[in-house]
Amino acid sequence: MKICIDCDDAAANLKKVLIDHLKSKGIDITDLNYSSTKEGALYPEIGYNLAKQIQTGKYDRGISICGTGLGMAMIANKVEGVYAGVCHDVFSAERLRKSNDAQVITMGERVIGPELAKTIIDAWLGSEFQGGGSTPKVQQMRDLEKKSFHPEK
Ligand code: RB5
Repeated sequence: MKICIDCDDAAANLKKVLIDHLKSKGIDITDLNYSSTKEGALYPEIGYNLAKQIQTGKYDRGISICGTGLGMAMIANKVEGVYAGVCHDVFSAERLRKSNDAQVITMGERVIGPELAKTIIDAWLGSEFQGGGSTPKVQQMRDLEKKSFHPEK
């Protein structure tokens, strides 16, 4: 599984904590570091860049962090085929994969402490879509998304 991560200026510390944590567990993670290519980059373009990497299949999962996690989730969900949710608790992080089949998790450095953030990421990485009763719900979301992105069809 290929995982990428990125953040805006409000979440640089949390990004480092999570990268170090995952690397210490032997998990390969790529820091997209969009800000290094564009000084003063704002969260929408940073989050959009990460979501595009997921959309094109370059990465399977993404961790997108900012001050609150809200802006990163909003922008990721504007990229067709990419689904993201803000998670500041373990249960939601598991459900994000198991029920919602979302590829992107977002969090806010101004909301959550580093230890809980690490636990949440572990839970999220350890969870997969369970199908079953969630399948028609996720499919309906994809259908409605198609209608929204391609209203002419
Ligand atoms: C800071 O730019 C802050 O607005 C951002 O990190 C994020 O919290 C937005 O949702």
